[in-house]
Amino acid sequence: MKKPTDQGPHAGRPKGGRSRSQSLREARVSYRTGLKAEGKVVVSVPISEEANLLLKESAESVGKTATALMTQLLEEAANQWSPSNPPAILNGNFRSAEREQLHKRFAAKLVINPLLTRKMVSFQASKATAFYRWLKYKEAFSPELVDYLYDLAQSSSREALHVLDPFAGTGTALTRACARGWLATGIELMPVGTHALKARFVADRVNVEQFEKSLRALSRLDWEKGKNSYSFPHVRITQGAFPSKTEREISACLRFMEGIEDEDVRFLLWFGGLSVLEDVSYTRKEGQYLRWDYRSGRKLSKRFDKGEILSFSGALEQRLRTFYEDLFQRNGGMFSTRAKVIEGSCLFELPKLANDQFDLILTSPPYCNRYDYTRTYALELAFCGYGEEDFRRLRQTLLSATVENKSKRDTLNGFYTNLGCSSRFAAIESAFQQQNVLQAILAVLRRARDRDELSNSNIPHLVENYFLEMAQVIFEFARVLRPGGQVLMVNDNVRYHGEEIPVDLILSDFAEKAGLQVHKIWVLPRGKGNSSQQMGKWGRMELRKCVYWWRKS
Ligand SMILES: C[S@@+](CC[C@H](N)C(=O)[O-])C[C@H]1O[C@@H](n2cnc3c(N)ncnc32)[C@H](O)[C@@H]1O
Repeated sequence: MKKPTDQGPHAGRPKGGRSRSQSLREARVSYRTGLKAEGKVVVSVPISEEANLLLKESAESVGKTATALMTQLLEEAANQWSPSNPPAILNGNFRSAEREQLHKRFAAKLVINPLLTRKMVSFQASKATAFYRWLKYKEAFSPELVDYLYDLAQSSSREALHVLDPFAGTGTALTRACARGWLATGIELMPVGTHALKARFVADRVNVEQFEKSLRALSRLDWEKGKNSYSFPHVRITQGAFPSKTEREISACLRFMEGIEDEDVRFLLWFGGLSVLEDVSYTRKEGQYLRWDYRSGRKLSKRFDKGEILSFSGALEQRLRTFYEDLFQRNGGMFSTRAKVIEGSCLFELPKLANDQFDLILTSPPYCNRYDYTRTYALELAFCGYGEEDFRRLRQTLLSATVENKSKRDTLNGFYTNLGCSSRFAAIESAFQQQNVLQAILAVLRRARDRDELSNSNIPHLVENYFLEMAQVIFEFARVLRPGGQVLMVNDNVRYHGEEIPVDLILSDFAEKAGLQVHKIWVLPRGKGNSSQQMGKWGRMELRKCVYWWRKS
């Protein structure tokens, strides 16, 4: 059985070569040279095996992990601008005195981290990695990012940590924690994520021979033959998503699965079906929507050709072969014994967790960007049997990030009252109400709505709901973390009606009000640019993409 690799590629002592101090000096020098030569932030720096070893030794001598020391060196190099002329991405928007004050409060914490490249942060990196390639979940962390952040969060004593991810998705934070021998607890609401997590548990225990036997039987299946009672349970937004041959094949396959006795094998085959739906459909997940191919026959404002559309039988067999290969690694055999998954909304599950129990929270909530998970994952949800009403209910239960979301304020208030914790909710509401930059932004957006200037009149509600719910989540973080515990959270700033919303600063203010200390707000070297249309109207504005690092004292 292959062991999980937490060693990193450079473990081992180099033979011969330069002296320690020389190599370390050169490593530093090369970062600075790169910075000067290109006149911008260095994005990634490959270092030699020897330099890496030196880094490890130096780090140990100052009680840090090698990753922490490397990050410090790179940060120093990347943040050597004159205080009067910081890179635009770190600049504040000083339209009001409140904004300027908030920015000044956290300016020293805003640090560019050159290691947080787009490639490191996005899902792209997972495409070739065992297990992570089972389901394309665009919103997922890359395992590399999680490993990097864990290296940083772990002290040099290397004790096992208990990690919480309350927006667990497909569980990257949980699986990487377990691979280190740590404990992990996740909360996730969307069935796409919870099924992916179930697949991880099943992978630890499934009978691989039985799985392979079913694969062989599947390869002999006559996909066209037989009468089928099953038809794809479409909802309005998925109608016409598949060619008719594909619908017939999905139907034949589900009938075939009914005959599989082994529950675990049957589940993995079903999950394989779910994971190829996008590939075999006329749709592609893009931005906030499903984009439709011209062959679907749908009326489209712009012709879109997604290229080859795979047959369901071919795509499924290929995907299941991948599962089969990965099953031999058994997640390192550690997931099922170390991970716990709570299916539900973290808004209602976090308040039930005991105080002071987690060492680290690593998470990425939905962003405040109108992204609707129920729309993007409509095919998968319909495949799970979700009807129109289930879609609506799920959308309302997810953290508010769309213009359709209604306020959960009264429900949450009632929930805390029933728990006997109404003062906790009062503190959350007060942090939200007293955030003067947020309240000023809301006032601007409401005025714009009243003048009919917004693209959607619910945008002020969306922003209001998002921040009240995030305030609640952050207060719960502070409560469930043990003293000395840490939070690492990935999130993006957003803009509505030309009004930049400094999500990083507002949430950091909530964190401080909840009793956490803001250690750093790491800024990705490249932010999110605005479209040429927006640029014409509001000017050029790059929005920060960040990883917040907070601590409980
Ligand atoms: C940015 S994704 C996180 C992905 C995750 N880091 C991964 O590696 O797969 C945000 C996740 O939060 C989940 N989510 C949204 N609202 C939630 C809620 N109220 N409770 C629990 N999970 C929620 C979404 O379904 C989504 O999977």
